[in-house]
Amino acid sequence: MKTRIGILTGGGDCPGLNTVLDSLVKSLASDYEIVGFYKGFEGLYNNSYTILDANFTNQFKFLGGTILKTVNKGHFSAKTGDGLTNEIDQEIINQAKQNYLKLNLEALIVLGGDGSLSAAFQLQQNGLNIIGVPKSIDNDVMGTDTTFGFLTAVQIAVEALDRLETTARSHERVMVLEVMGRNSGWIGLHSGIAGGANIILIPEIVFDYKKILEVIQKRYKNGKTNTLIVVSEGATSMDENKSYSNSGGQSSENLLGGIGEKITRFLNQNGLDARSTRLGHIQRGGSPLSMDRLLSIQMGVYAAKLVEEKIYGQLVCYNSGQMGYKPLVDCISKLKLVDPNGELVLQAKKIGISFGN
Ligand code: F6P
Repeated sequence: MKTRIGILTGGGDCPGLNTVLDSLVKSLASDYEIVGFYKGFEGLYNNSYTILDANFTNQFKFLGGTILKTVNKGHFSAKTGDGLTNEIDQEIINQAKQNYLKLNLEALIVLGGDGSLSAAFQLQQNGLNIIGVPKSIDNDVMGTDTTFGFLTAVQIAVEALDRLETTARSHERVMVLEVMGRNSGWIGLHSGIAGGANIILIPEIVFDYKKILEVIQKRYKNGKTNTLIVVSEGATSMDENKSYSNSGGQSSENLLGGIGEKITRFLNQNGLDARSTRLGHIQRGGSPLSMDRLLSIQMGVYAAKLVEEKIYGQLVCYNSGQMGYKPLVDCISKLKLVDPNGELVLQAKKIGISFGN
C-alpha cells in the first residue's frame, strides 16, 4: 500500500494553488497516495476529501483559484487580522488529529499564508507532520523572498495603472488605485513603481493628506496635469489609526478597504478632479502569470522532496533564486513587512515617487 500524504489549500485563494497541487501530485505519484482535503482545514476536521491523481490535477494546473476550495478561517482561526496569535480550540485540533490518524497520513502539506501556516503550526505542536508552502498575493510571509500569487497580483495592478494613466492624461485627473495587501505594502510598492505611480501609500509609511495635496499641486505647477496614486488597503494617515471601513464578514478579521475613496474625497474637496478605483478581488482571480507558474511548480516539487526525505515542520522558501526550507516556527511569529528605509523604497524616492510623508 502507498504511503498517504494529505494536502489542503487554506485562507484566501490566489493564482498558482492548482499549479502547486499538480506539481506535487506528479512528483509523488509513483510512491504516494495524495489525499486532498476540501475547504482548507475544514476538510480535515469534517473528513471531507478526494484522492488526487495527476490525470485529474493536470487539467487544472494553470487555472486560477483552487480545485480543493478554501475558506478564510472557519474553525481554524489561528491569527487575528492584526497578526496576533489565536489559540485554536483543543477539541477542534483533537478532531483534526483523529481524522489525520484514521486516514493513516504520514504528513500534511499546507498551502497557505500567515494565518493558515499558523494553524498548521498548532497542528504540528499536536504531533502532526507538517510541511508548509507559502501562498499569498500579499507577499507577507516571513522566511521567503516571494510567496506564489504575489507576482500575478502585482501584474494585474500594473495593468490597471497603465489603463488609468491614459484616461488620467485625457481628463487631466488624479487617479487613485486601491490595492490589497492587508497590513503589508508589497503589492502597492511593486505595482506602484512598475506602473509609474507618482505617489505610493503603504501601511509601513504613515502618510499625511496635506503632503499628498502639496505633491499634486507642485506637479501642476510643473505642467504635469495628471497624477497616479497607488494606495494599499492598509495604509493610514497620521490623523487616523485605521483605514478599516467595515468589519465582520465570514472571517473574524476586519475587512480592509475604503482608504482610496477617502483620499479621493479629500482631493475633490480640495478642488482637484480625482477618481477612485478599488481593484479588489480581481487581484486574486485568474491564471498565474509565467513567473508564478514557475515558482509554483518549483515549490510543489520541493515540497515533494521534503516528503521523500521526511523533513517535517518546515516551510518551503525561495530566497535569492534558490529553493530551500526554514523551520515553520520561525516564519509565523511575525509578518514580513516593507522596510521604509529599504532599497526599493529609496530607489523609488530617487526617481521622484512620493510616499506621502
Ligand atoms: O490575504 C489576501 C487578501 O486578498 C488580502 O489582501 C485582503 O485584505 C483579503 O485577503 C481579502 O479577504 P476576503 O477574500 O475574505 O475578502
